[in-house]
Parts: sequence; C-alpha cells; structure tokens
Amino acid sequence: MSDIRFDDRVAIVTGAGGGLGRCHALELARRGAKVVVNDLGGSLDGTGGNSEAAEAVVKEIEALGGEAIANGSSVSDEAGVKKMIDDTMAKWGRIDIIIANAGILRDKSFSKMTQGDIDLVLDVHLRGTFMPVHAAWNIMKEQNFGRIVVTTSSTGLYGNFGQANYGAAKLGVVGMMNTLKIEGAKNNIKINAVCPIAATRMTQGLMPDEVLAQLKPEYVTPGVMNLVKDDAPSGMILSAGAGAFSMARIVETEGVFVGQGEGLSAEAVAAKWDQITDVATTKPAFQSGGEHGQNIFAAVAAGMKG
Ligand code: NAI
Repeated sequence: MSDIRFDDRVAIVTGAGGGLGRCHALELARRGAKVVVNDLGGSLDGTGGNSEAAEAVVKEIEALGGEAIANGSSVSDEAGVKKMIDDTMAKWGRIDIIIANAGILRDKSFSKMTQGDIDLVLDVHLRGTFMPVHAAWNIMKEQNFGRIVVTTSSTGLYGNFGQANYGAAKLGVVGMMNTLKIEGAKNNIKINAVCPIAATRMTQGLMPDEVLAQLKPEYVTPGVMNLVKDDAPSGMILSAGAGAFSMARIVETEGVFVGQGEGLSAEAVAAKWDQITDVATTKPAFQSGGEHGQNIFAAVAAGMKG
C-alpha cells in the first residue's frame, strides 16, 4: 500500500470547525496539505457565529506541525467566499482541494416547515456548496488539477421524515457533481460525493449511545482522503460510517417500449407496469444524461423489432 500524501497541495474544508470537517482538515494537514479551515461557528440551526471554532482547529493543525489559516465566512455569503478564495491565492497561490462540508439542520414535518426553514437549509447546503466550488473552478481549470468533494446524505438519496428541505439540498449537490464530473474531466478536475454517518452535534441524541460510540467522525475521513487523492475516481458517491464503506448509485431498469401514437395510452403503460419496474432488469449506472437517452431508444428499438 503506497502512502496517500498531499504535500504541496492547498485544501479548503468548509464547516471545518467541528465534526466531520475538522477531521477531514486535520487528516489533510497530517498528510502534508496546507489547509484553509472555514467555519461560520454558528449553532446547529444556522444562527449566530464567530471564527473561534475555525481558529481552534488551526491551532490543532499547527500543533501537529502543519500549516493552516482560519476563515470565518458563511459558505453562502458571496463576498465572504470570494475573499476566502482571494486570501488563499494570496497566501499559497493555488487551490487543489475543496471539501464542501458545512451544514445546518432545520428539521420539521413538511406541514410545519416554514419558507425560512426551506430557504436557509437550501442556502447553506446547496448555494454554500456551489459558491466556493464556482469561485475556485477557473483556478482549478488553469492549474489542470482539482479535487472536490461534496457532502450528500442518506436523506437526499433515500429520504427521512422531517427533512424535506435538507434532502432536497443534499441531492442537489449530487446533481451538481454529475455535471461537473463531465465539465472538469479534460482539466483533471475530479469531483465526488461522500454520504457520511457520524456522531457529531448533528446526530446527538438521534441514536443510542452504543451506536454513536461506533460512529466516530474519524471513521469517515479515510474514505474522503481517497476521494481527493491524485488518482481519485470522479462522479462517485461513497457511503462511509463506522469504518464501513460502500458505493451508492442511481440506476434504471431496462425499459419497455409501450407504443407511439394510438397504441400508447395510460392504460397501456399500466398494463406493462410490472415489466417497467422489474428490478431484475436493472442496468449499470449511466455515466451521463446521454446514456439515459440511449437506454430509452434501445427500448424503443427492441420494442419495434419485437
Ligand atoms: P456539525 O454540525 O458538527 O458540522 C457542521 C459545521 O458546519 C459546523 O462546524 C458549523 O459551524 C459549520 N457551518 C454551518 N453553517 C455554515 C456556514 N453557513 N458557513 C460555514 N460553516 C458553516 O455536523 P457534521 O455532522 O460534522 O456535518 C458535516 C456535514 O456532513 C454536513 O454537510 C452534514 O449535513 C453532513 N452529514 C452528516 C451526517 C452525520 O451523520 N453526521 C449524515 C449525513 C450528512
């Protein structure tokens, strides 16, 4: 096994004042990266904030002999994010890695969720992932090197009661990844998603203590290091928790040609429902929207022949 190293790499980790982000930042620094520790330092519901949390992690990195700077901007504050990117370039002259990890919760059943709960969660998770990645994109293109990790969630991939706002934002970042893996390919920019589960203030009290004891954030970070290393994959969703790792994929069934023109009706689709939804025909995950279109036309061609 060769060592995974980040010497001479410059990394930005958002929401790195605590929880998972702190672990990612520390591990990058241990492996040689210079790290921008971003954290607004607010409460779990997104209120308040100061740069103390980020500064404390910078001290931890310095104590390890690493190099880091603190940044207290909100990831969804355009001017603050631009300043973070400018300050990083002024200090170290490049940006190799971004781990977009900052997050908050405003859980409520949908009937009780306010527009404010929806807007703030989309703002921090979705715009707050777009903003630093967008601000650094052309720098990464010019360098012909970039490694980006977005942080999704099982709520986005599969759902969870009381988290419609959070789930939408968390699947949104996967949508962003799916396109950026294509746009970044020719400039050696690779982008992946981590779907973590860890005991942090976000999951406090949600699971029994003996389960939380197994869910150390440190048990997620080794997977994330594999998503930002030089020979990282691109477009992958890595599930990580308690030291176990798996890959999540969005897949489709083979598809069935029902008809065109008079042969096609709601009833004709209903008559083929079992075949349309037959998971035994599930295809390997498509790598682009174009492959999805090809699957549809393959079903049309097969149906017309048959
Ligand atoms: P955490 O609450 O310990 O860490 C989130 C950090 O983001 C905090 O330090 C907070 O101050 C910072 N933050 C919040 N809003 C910010 C903003 N606008 N700008 C900059 N920083 C901001 O929670 P945890 O668990 O470490 O979460 C990290 C990421 O992992 C989040 O995106 C979360 O949604 C995601 N996640 C966590 C899971 C878990 O089991 N802990 C499960 C699935 C996803």
